[in-house]
Amino acid sequence: MLKEAILITGGGRRIGRHLVEQFLEQATHPVVFTYRTPRPEVETLQARGAVGIQVDFNQVDAVERVVSAVQSQVSSLRALIHNASVWSDDQTVARNPHCLTDMTRLHIEVPYRLNVALHELLLASQSPMKDVIALTDASVDGANGDYAAYLASKAGLQNLSKNFAKKWAPQIKVNNIAPGLILFHPEDDEAYRKRRLQQSALAIEPGEAVIWQAVQYLMESSYTTGITLPVEGGRHLM
Ligand SMILES: NC(=O)c1ccc[n+]([C@@H]2O[C@H](COP(=O)([O-])OP(=O)(O)OC[C@H]3O[C@@H](n4cnc5c(N)ncnc54)[C@H](OP(=O)(O)O)[C@@H]3O)[C@@H](O)[C@H]2O)c1
Repeated sequence: MLKEAILITGGGRRIGRHLVEQFLEQATHPVVFTYRTPRPEVETLQARGAVGIQVDFNQVDAVERVVSAVQSQVSSLRALIHNASVWSDDQTVARNPHCLTDMTRLHIEVPYRLNVALHELLLASQSPMKDVIALTDASVDGANGDYAAYLASKAGLQNLSKNFAKKWAPQIKVNNIAPGLILFHPEDDEAYRKRRLQQSALAIEPGEAVIWQAVQYLMESSYTTGITLPVEGGRHLM
């Protein structure tokens, strides 16, 4: 059984994959991650020793299957990181109404149910610090006419963390990381990239490393719970 493990949802690509890689590099904790889509990068993570659990959280019993896979392999959890996400704009939601349910499920229901189901494994950690960290979005506190459904679901996640922080103190810290622009998608065109870069004071695409720095800060801080840590390059200054 794996002791003091880290569990990351949506660890197969981009930011989630980077976090899995960094924890593997650090080699302090066993790493367990969920992925939905099989890809060579997932196999590489597994070959390096991470335990991958394939799941589509839109399927019935998905949370139960993940929880039972974790419980059968892990005896204690040092940290649980809610990273899995879907970023649908309101036009997509209008064409596909299930997208609203999918985002609410992935950003609120899944983290809530994983928190409750894995609470005992977090309490079983011998570490003086145990963490739950959720990836939200720096735009949650503002308003965006194009992403109302996405941002409302991420706001729900942000609030969920605050409530669990109060519920579980002092044993378990629960915090959010609210990223601004971290990584473009390959299909983003030059005009979009330019506009997004101009929206933050530091005006760079920082890459996944800044999220790893934030995760490390939260896990190493003995006096931080119930907060949302913005990682947004000074977007709030603009
Ligand atoms: N990248 C940014 O600039 C940025 C900005 C603001 C906030 N964030 C937040 O930071 C986090 C990571 O961002 P990212 O850009 O790396 O996200 P991403 O590329 O969209 O990856 C999201 C992950 O969630 C998984 N996922 C999506 N739907 C799922 C489902 N139904 N069941 C199971 N897994 C599912 C995906 O799995 P598969 O790929 O295996 O299908 C993927 O690994 C997210 O929470 C995001 O909202 C990122």
